[in-house]
Amino acid sequence: MQWINTERGYGWLSIALHWLAAFAIIMMFWSGFAAENAGELGDRAARRALMGFHIGFGASIALLLLARVAAHFAQPRPTPIAQQKPLMLLSGATHLLLLVSILIQVISGPLAVWSGGRDINVFDFFAIPTPFAAENEAVHEGAEVAHAIGRWMLLVLIGVHIAGTLKHAFIDRDGVLRRMLAPTKP
Ligand code: HEM
Ligand code: HEM
Repeated sequence: MQWINTERGYGWLSIALHWLAAFAIIMMFWSGFAAENAGELGDRAARRALMGFHIGFGASIALLLLARVAAHFAQPRPTPIAQQKPLMLLSGATHLLLLVSILIQVISGPLAVWSGGRDINVFDFFAIPTPFAAENEAVHEGAEVAHAIGRWMLLVLIGVHIAGTLKHAFIDRDGVLRRMLAPTKP
C-alpha cells in the first residue's frame, strides 16, 4: 500500500486528504452562501440555522484542512507533468494559493466568531471557548474582511484548478487526474 507521495505520484494519504477536503470545502461554500442568502431575504431563523451548521461543521473539519495543508509540505512532491513553462508556473502557483486560501479561511472563520465575544458552538455538542476577554471590534472586522477575501480567492482558484484538470483529462490525456485517484504503479 503506497501511503506517502513518491516522485512518480501521490500516495493514499494525499489522495484521501485531497478529496475529503474538497468535499468539506464545498459544504462550507454551500452553507456560507445559503446563510448569506437567507440573511438577504430577511429569514433570520434560516440564517441562524445555516450559520450554526457552517460554524459547527467548520470547527469539525478545521483539523482535516490543516492536516491537508501540512501533508503537502511534509511529503515529497510528485514531479510535475511536463508542459509549457507558463502552464507549469500557473499550476504550481494555483496549488500554493489554494493552500494559502484554505489557511486564511480556517484562521479567519474562528477568529470572526471569537472576536465577536462568542464561543464556537459545535452542534450544541460542545463549545470551544473564546480566548478573547471581551469583544474586539478591530480583530472582528479584520477577520471578516480576510474571510471574504479568502472565499473569493478560493472560488477563482478552484475554477482555474478544475478547468486545468479537465484540460489534462480530456485534451492532453496525460494521466494527471488518474494520479489523484490512485497511486501510480511502479
Ligand atoms: C474553506 C473553508 C470555508 C469557506 C469556503 C467559508 C465560506 C464562507 C462564506 C461563503 C461565508 C459568507 C456568509 C455571509 O457573508 O454571510 C462565510 C461566513 C462565515 N464563516 Fe466561513 N468559510 C470557511 C471556513 C469557516 C470556518 C472554519 C469557520 C469557523 C469555525 C467559519 C465561520 C464563518 C463565520 C462566523 C461567518 C460569518 C461572518 C463573516 O461573513 O465573516 N468559516 N464563510
Ligand atoms: C475544494 C476544492 C479543491 C482544492 C482546494 C484542491 C486543491 C489541490 C491542491 C492544493 C493540489 C496540489 C497537490 C497537493 O495536494 O500537494 C491539488 C491537486 C490536484 N487536484 Fe485538486 N483541489 C480541489 C478540487 C479538485 C477537483 C474537483 C478536481 C477534479 C476535477 C481536482 C483535481 C486535482 C488533480 C488531478 C490534482 C493533481 C495535480 C497534479 O498531479 O499535478 N481537485 N488539488
